[in-house]
Formats: sequence, C-alpha cells, structure tokens
Amino acid sequence: MARRKLVAGNWKMNTTLLEAVALAKAVAQGAAASNAEVAVFPPFTWLAAVGEALRSSSVALGGQDVSSEQKGAFTGEVSPAMLTETGCKYALIGHSERRHILGESDATINNKLHAALDVGLHVVLCVGETRPEREKDGMKERVFERQIFAGLAGVTANQMAKVVIAYEPVWAIGTGLTATPEQAQDAHKFIRGKLSQLHGETIGAATILLYGGSVTADTAAGLFAQPDVDGGLVGGASLKADAFLKIIAAAG
Ligand code: PGA
Repeated sequence: MARRKLVAGNWKMNTTLLEAVALAKAVAQGAAASNAEVAVFPPFTWLAAVGEALRSSSVALGGQDVSSEQKGAFTGEVSPAMLTETGCKYALIGHSERRHILGESDATINNKLHAALDVGLHVVLCVGETRPEREKDGMKERVFERQIFAGLAGVTANQMAKVVIAYEPVWAIGTGLTATPEQAQDAHKFIRGKLSQLHGETIGAATILLYGGSVTADTAAGLFAQPDVDGGLVGGASLKADAFLKIIAAAG
C-alpha cells in the first residue's frame, strides 16, 4: 500500500510573530513542488497569521495541542473548533513534552483525540519510550502498546483515516541523538502491527507513521527510506527554512 509521506514541523514555544510568518512563507514557497504533504505547527498565538501566510499554498496548519473540551469555563485552553476555525487541519496530541513535563495521562490524551476527531480535525498522536524504558528488555513494546491502545481507545475504523501516529523516542527529542533507521523501523513495524491488531491489516497498512526525535537534513533520508517510516515530525530543524526544506526534499 503506497502511503504519502508527511513532513511536519513542530515549532514548539519558538519564533516571534515576524519569524513565524517569514518561516511559513519560506516553507510554502520551497515545498510547493514536493510530493510529500507538509504541515507546520506554530504556537497558538501565531496560528492565524501563519495560516494567512500559507493561504493558497499546499502546506497544512496544525495546533500543537488541543483541549479535550469543546467550550466553556476552561481558562487557557483552546478548543478543537477554535483550531478548525483558524484553518487548522491537524492537532498534535500526546507530545512527550506534554506527557512528561506537563503530566498528561493516556486518558487525557484519548479525550483530546476524540474531541479533535469529533470536529473533523486530523490528529497526530505521539508515542515513544524514555531511555530507561528502552534499556529494559521488552519494556518499550509494552509502552508502545499501552500508549497506542489507550490513546486510540474508542476510535472507529472510519476515524483512523484521520489519525497519524508519530513515534518519538523521548531520549531522542531535542537531544541530538537520533534513533538509527533500524531502531525506527523496528518500532514502526511493531506499532503498525498493533494498529492491525486493533483495526485490521488494511487500516494498519494505510496509517501514516512518522518518526520524530532530532531529525536533521543528514539523517532524514536514511530514516524515510525505511519501509514503515512515512515521514517525520521535526522540532529543532523545522525552525530554519533551509534545513526543513532539505528534510522535505528527503521525503521525495
Ligand atoms: P526535535 O523535536 O526534532 O527537536 O528532537 C521533535 C519533536 O519533539 O517533535
């Protein structure tokens, strides 16, 4: 099954407004000829301006997080409908920084996923093991299984068409340590197997699986060449247009 590659830039809590708009314009221009889908995830406050900068380009917009609630007295939260109204296609859910720094549980992540899917957003669900979990025999697989099964609980087969999974080993995020192509492939194959177990082989084979964790212009091609790696979720290297465009080019 041929899956289209996706390269997503997670800008995290970086960029000024001017930097964000300039970066978006450069990405839109440089990615115009790419066969891969390209998406950017700016800070919430810049979504409207970046959306404007991306207008009439093929680059998709996403929110770095989303509320599990649709509206009401939830100070500081951003609802799924607010993301769609701002032009977002995607919501990033369960990023390791939210799991490990902000304490989000699998149950919270599952609630956010449903809230986002309910308004028609596509979601990128992040999963991945910490260093101690990788070092303990059989542990990382248990982590993947738990995060996938709990994160996707109650998601229907039809909704899976809007679900992307990002495998992001926590030890590789922002550390300069990239998983080897073989480590990424092993994890992706295992995760695809779990998706097949949940929803059958056709959906398992059709779901886009991204690798994330210190992806650079130098490591992207080797990672993206793996049979179960369908692109990348890029943090640091997505903040410079030239580096990000090289990663997009590596996706074809
Ligand atoms: P990084 O971040 O590329 O800077 O490691 C990836 C991510 O956290 O999505």
